[in-house]
This record gives sequence, structure tokens and C-alpha cells, in this order.
Amino acid sequence: VALYAEDGFSTLRAKLGENLAVLVHSDDIRVMVVEQDGDIVGFASTTLGFGLEQGRVAELEDLYVRPAHRRGGIGCVLIDDSAAWARSVGCRALEVIVAPNGKNVTHLLGFYIRRGFTDEGRRLLARDLRPDPTKAPVTV
Ligand SMILES: CC(C)(COP(=O)(O)OP(=O)(O)OC[C@H]1O[C@@H](n2cnc3c(N)ncnc32)[C@H](O)[C@@H]1OP(=O)(O)O)[C@@H](O)C(=O)NCCC(=O)NCCS
Repeated sequence: VALYAEDGFSTLRAKLGENLAVLVHSDDIRVMVVEQDGDIVGFASTTLGFGLEQGRVAELEDLYVRPAHRRGGIGCVLIDDSAAWARSVGCRALEVIVAPNGKNVTHLLGFYIRRGFTDEGRRLLARDLRPDPTKAPVTV
């Protein structure tokens, strides 16, 4: 919830809880947490995809470290874990999407590039698949 609030996503808390339950119970998804003194201070989740170009690829979907615990290397540990897991399940690449959500994310691009990611200028476009309530359903 803290990650999504900080990064300006509008996903509802209940939906995050529902999706988290799927993440932690899936064998195809890596969820890694870092604990200190019994508290979770950071986490990452990594999912798998498959395509003609690269075969199996992984995506670092979520990466978050609580503000008080930043700049101590936890983010790096989580990325390295994600990459090691992806490699262990046969992936040739680990991808990450940096979503601006109206903010300046230049520092994040640098953060990832210093950790071995390259920006090939690819653009992610998304189509909203939720039904449009203003349109009547099309019958075929
Ligand atoms: C991005 C984020 C995960 C980084 O977590 P972090 O634990 O601070 O990451 P690290 O400590 O590994 O690295 C952060 C910086 O601290 C530096 N650092 C690492 N250990 C350090 C130490 N012991 N002393 C001082 N600096 C240190 C790193 O070199 C790095 O700086 P750089 O990017 O200029 O190289 C964290 O800032 C965060 O949760 N941000 C909000 C959510 C977010 O943006 N997630 C990514 C979505 S794509």
C-alpha cells in the first residue's frame, strides 16, 4: 500500500490485497521480502512472461524499500535476488517498467542503469480492457 501510494498508483487497497494473495501463492512468481527486527522493510515481486524474441523473460514488477531504510543496499539486494531467480528459471533477461505517474523518474532510470539495466527506448502501451459503461455490448 505504501509503495502504490508513494508512486501515485490508484489501485485500491482491497485489490492490492487480492493480487498479493495470488502473487505469494504462485509458483511462477518470486516474492522476496527483507525483514529487520521482525518488520518487513522492503520487498520485490518478479513475474514471468514468454515471447518469440527472447523466450522466457522476467519482469521486476514491484520494488519497494521503506523510506527510513533506503540507501543501505536493500534495493540492490532485492534486484540481485530477482535477477538470480530469473536466471535460475531459464530467463534470458530481467525487465522493469518505470512508470512516471506524473513524477520525475530520472533518478530511477539512473538507479536501474547503474545496476546493469539498459534503456533500449522501448515504449509500453496499455489498452484498458474493462468494459466501457457508456457503450452497449457488441454481439457477434
Ligand atoms: C528505488 C528504491 C527501491 C531503492 O531502494 P534502496 O534500498 O534505497 O536501494 P539501494 O540502497 O540499493 O541503492 C540506493 C542508493 O543508495 C546507495 N547506497 C547503497 N548502499 C549505501 C550505503 N551503505 N551508504 C550510502 N549509500 C548507499 C546506492 O549506491 C544507491 O545510489 P545510486 O543509485 O546513486 O547508486 C527505493 O528508493 C524505493 O522504494 N523507492 C520508492 C519506490 C520505487 O520507486 N520503486 C521502484 C519502482 S520502478
